[in-house]
Amino acid sequence: MKKVSKRIEIIANILEAEDKNVWDLCCDHGQLGSYLLENKNVRKVFFVDRVPKIMDSLEKILNHSFSKERFECQTLDAHEIDPTPNDVITICGVGGQLAISLMNAFLKKLKESESTYLICAHYHMYDLRLFLRDNHLKLISEKLIEDQGRMYELLYVSHMGSEEIPLIGSKMWDFSNLHHIRYLDKTLSHYQKKGHQESAPYLLYKNLKDSLKN
Ligand SMILES: C[S@@+](CC[C@H](N)C(=O)[O-])C[C@H]1O[C@@H](n2cnc3c(N)ncnc32)[C@H](O)[C@@H]1O
Repeated sequence: MKKVSKRIEIIANILEAEDKNVWDLCCDHGQLGSYLLENKNVRKVFFVDRVPKIMDSLEKILNHSFSKERFECQTLDAHEIDPTPNDVITICGVGGQLAISLMNAFLKKLKESESTYLICAHYHMYDLRLFLRDNHLKLISEKLIEDQGRMYELLYVSHMGSEEIPLIGSKMWDFSNLHHIRYLDKTLSHYQKKGHQESAPYLLYKNLKDSLKN
């Protein structure tokens, strides 16, 4: 199997070793699901992408590497999947708005089940966190990943925990790491450029930044 990116490796390794079904949604080359099949104790991976060409070539590659019982390829819009209430659902490498829309669809089907969700989206992370919190999801863990100069927030959540989802992140920050400081500055300047200095997210990020000066 080809070496995967640092981001994929960190996402995969946040999962507890579990004998569960995992959904690799919007999977593209299927790097996350393939890594899990190879390195983690997962029962079966369902790979989903809406582009037929992507799924055809992925299925050929998977057929060479894994037995047929361990994976299934589904060419469809990820909103249409039919998971069972104990599955692990991963949504990675997509925008925050799509992640919200997908979670909205799954929560209608699964309600407050034992499913766990691993989400590593870009942009609109505050909106995504707020949506998850409003829907009573709890934090299992969170990480801020740096990979080749780009930053990614990773959220591992479920309805089973007790820790409230922090709206701008909490344990993920490590301010001895320059990448984290730059990410906070970049997020603040994003809200400033949009003229959103009175908005709740801006004020929360600003508070966090100010607390570093003390
Ligand atoms: C940038 S890739 C992300 C690949 C991988 N998940 C990762 O983290 O590297 C985004 C993929 O999402 C797929 N996609 C976008 N919207 C989708 C949807 N509604 N349903 C299924 N696949 C979708 C695209 O076809 C594309 O292959």
